[in-house]
Amino acid sequence: MEELLKIPVHIAIIMDGNGRWAKKRKLPRSVGHQQGAKRLEEICRAAAEMGVKYLTVYAFSTENWARPEDEIATLMKILRNYLADSIKKARDNNMRIRVIGDISRLDLDIQKSIRRLEEVSASNTGLNFQIALNYGSRDEILRAVRRMTADCRAGKIQPDELDETLFSSYLDTKDIPDPDFLIRTSGEQRLSNYLLWQCAYAEFYFPEVLWPDFDKNALKEAVRQYTARDRRFGGV
Ligand code: FPP
Repeated sequence: MEELLKIPVHIAIIMDGNGRWAKKRKLPRSVGHQQGAKRLEEICRAAAEMGVKYLTVYAFSTENWARPEDEIATLMKILRNYLADSIKKARDNNMRIRVIGDISRLDLDIQKSIRRLEEVSASNTGLNFQIALNYGSRDEILRAVRRMTADCRAGKIQPDELDETLFSSYLDTKDIPDPDFLIRTSGEQRLSNYLLWQCAYAEFYFPEVLWPDFDKNALKEAVRQYTARDRRFGGV
């Protein structure tokens, strides 16, 4: 009998454990990140096949700048490679790609590739794939508040108009529904400044598996766990 799964509309993922995966194999951390990036492509395809509409991944946090320079360089190299063929990938998979986070701190060529990718994939109707880059929730909220107060001062909005919907429209995730399921791999059980506002009602799931080993069967198992949960929103 076909298994009946409840498919989350929006899955958010913290791809944790690349470093430990590499260390276990006595490999450099960069190899862990490369494997992690490969896994991400498989998970994008699997999520789309399952009927997930939105997938948001934490690729680089505002805190990640504190990592050793060579590790940051590796992550930027992976990002450049990813962006280089992502226009084709987005077209082949009918995927809409958006970046959340403050990209102004990234190199100019990366910023340009991101803008172009967002533009050319904007009308794709398959999976909505969000990549969080130089993203931190507190930073996102502060940037939103700054723009909102500027709009208030300019008379574009009135303070008493402010409600959750208006506030959400100033966030990087504007037009994207809140995640209903958050997965963090590697057994760590923290949000680490990821989608704090947006995950207010999300179910959390913390499998032990390290990100480079998180394959499509692991995604299916995660969705099974989600299906088994009784979703409540505080009402009944
Ligand atoms: C956490 O593992 C992972 C990261 C900080 C980077 C995640 C990035 C990728 C998987 C590839 C990027 C993909 C794109 C699209 C650019 P960790 O290094 O903290 O692992 P550890 O906790 O075991 O040390």
